Amino acid sequence: MSVEVVCVASWNVDLIAHIPQPLERGQTRMANAFERLPGGKGSNAAIAAARQGAKVGLIARIGGDDFGQMGLDLWTHEEIDSQHVVRGAGETNGTALILVYEDGDNSIAVYPGAGAGLSATHVQSASAMLANARVVMASCEVPLAATQSAFETARAHGVLTLLNPAPAMPIPDGLWPLIDVLTPNEGELLMLTGAADIDTAADLLLQRGVGAVVVTLGERGCTLFRQNAAPLRLPGHTMQVVDTIGAGDTFTGTLAAALARKAPWPEVLHWANAAAALSTQAHGAVTAMPTFQQVQTFFPYTTGT
Ligand code: RIB
Repeated sequence: MSVEVVCVASWNVDLIAHIPQPLERGQTRMANAFERLPGGKGSNAAIAAARQGAKVGLIARIGGDDFGQMGLDLWTHEEIDSQHVVRGAGETNGTALILVYEDGDNSIAVYPGAGAGLSATHVQSASAMLANARVVMASCEVPLAATQSAFETARAHGVLTLLNPAPAMPIPDGLWPLIDVLTPNEGELLMLTGAADIDTAADLLLQRGVGAVVVTLGERGCTLFRQNAAPLRLPGHTMQVVDTIGAGDTFTGTLAAALARKAPWPEVLHWANAAAALSTQAHGAVTAMPTFQQVQTFFPYTTGT
């Protein structure tokens, strides 16, 4: 079977320290715990999609070091196609330094390493995989020129494009109309537009040419905005959060998988919302990412929910 969901992906190793409260500038604190776990917004979303049953392929540039090898081993285990992953010989892999606080929230600094060298030329070497996919997704952790190239190819072949605009950064004018679905969180949505509320912000992005905006609102769920349609608002799930690392990536990857199987929007949103909620139930980005069956067990979908 050919690849259904292609991710133009970042791959980081997450170095995670647990401390009670955010640090003040200049402050040093002893951490309660430390973990080294898989991360990277692209790889996380790809794994989320694969666990939902989608056949997933990556386009990525990773380090020639041990961290790079960890990625290859992980994707083999998750049955993700990594034939278009290139290793930068002698280059350091992407690394994320993460502080997790006692309420489960976090702060993250990402050093992209070899991933910063992902180019449009590299992306085009995977043009056949892109052209034959159902969904092509990316985040802002990979160079925007690589994303633009992938989305141009996708658009030329009628393949749906999905951007998670995280971390939020200025998006070139030419990229907006190539985005079929955008999945910002509330802070990213407001930052991208300068608007004061999500309805105004989403409307601005639709005017820039984005096909649909799905804003994630944590415990408050998510809302879908489209042209000429009333917003579709889905309530969230109340969870005892262990940590929220990767919850947004789980949402995006699960959304991609549901769109790839051509589910209708209410079902797509239900699935992404539920998977993101379940992903907060263990430490790290991928540890608690649910399978299709786990979502169906904990939050079964019935028409109209
Ligand atoms: O979204 C969570 C991810 O952001 C982490 O896994 C970290 O690697 C950073 O990319």
